[in-house]
Amino acid sequence: MSEANVKLVGVVWRWWTPHVMCVIWTMAMNMITVLGQGTGSLTGAVTFLENYESQSDSQHFRILNDGHQVQLVLDEYAASGFGSKYQYLFGKIGMRMKLVPGNSAGTVTAYYMSSQTPGLHDEMDFEFLGNVTGQPYILQTNIYANGEGKREQRIYLWFDPTSDFHSYSVLWNTQQIVFYVDNTPIRVFKNNKDIGVPYPDSKPVGIYSTIWNGENWATNDGWVKLNWTYAPFVATYESFNVDACRVDNGDTASCMAQTSSWWMSSEYQTLGAYQVNQLEWVRNNYLLYDYCADRKRSPAPPPECARNPL
Ligand SMILES: *[C@@H]1O[C@H](CO)[C@@H](O)[C@H](O)[C@H]1NC(C)=O
Repeated sequence: MSEANVKLVGVVWRWWTPHVMCVIWTMAMNMITVLGQGTGSLTGAVTFLENYESQSDSQHFRILNDGHQVQLVLDEYAASGFGSKYQYLFGKIGMRMKLVPGNSAGTVTAYYMSSQTPGLHDEMDFEFLGNVTGQPYILQTNIYANGEGKREQRIYLWFDPTSDFHSYSVLWNTQQIVFYVDNTPIRVFKNNKDIGVPYPDSKPVGIYSTIWNGENWATNDGWVKLNWTYAPFVATYESFNVDACRVDNGDTASCMAQTSSWWMSSEYQTLGAYQVNQLEWVRNNYLLYDYCADRKRSPAPPPECARNPL
């Protein structure tokens, strides 16, 4: 190498080193972040006990990973569940879940939001109906307003919900309720109070999950029974942050007046074109049952059906 070249290399080396180190450092940090999310070790994220409490004994409820994950356990002795410490009115409420693997036939894993107003309750439900090994779960959603439910929809999922965590969430504001699986909307329920359809918009809800024996209806309409030799049935949860308006001391008025919250903004009051396409994709490929189309149950479709789903 000539002297000039050696000098040049020296200059380039001195100039580049900090830049390259900086790039490598950034890449390493990004990788750590991505890996952290992938394995579910959510260091720094909200722990279960900050927002939730168990409703089960220690045989049926497990805290893992410093409170960043929990498990519900169903066996022949007891069902299990947990609930939020607080009540909420509007926002985006969701969780990441990994459902009971293997033979889960007859089990129902419910993740839902419900008001404490007996007889006139509001509720938004995800219900995962288990199945025999290798056969698909069904995800049923339902909505109650003022105690009036019977609005079931059922879909298959486009992935195996037992092999990895996926997020299941509800966007809820004064205009619409959107059920999401990961970032894909699977259902919309619009505010149709103007045509007399009750809509959940005033009662705060708690957030709950339970696993129970639903063998009389869950799998193949109750034809496949739960088999306790496969117990315990275990579902795992993570991501316990709640991005919603918390109702303290029964003060619902301030949540109803929160027009500046992101979930109230105009872009969340209807689905955008891209999300409408996603919803159509789900309905065209994975829809199993829609109460709107059930002519045995109601000879004429309920009034909101002409305006939902899109
Ligand atoms: C279980 O698998 C059967 C057979 O593939 C399917 O018909 C059914 O919809 C699946 N899900 C449930 C919850 O029964």
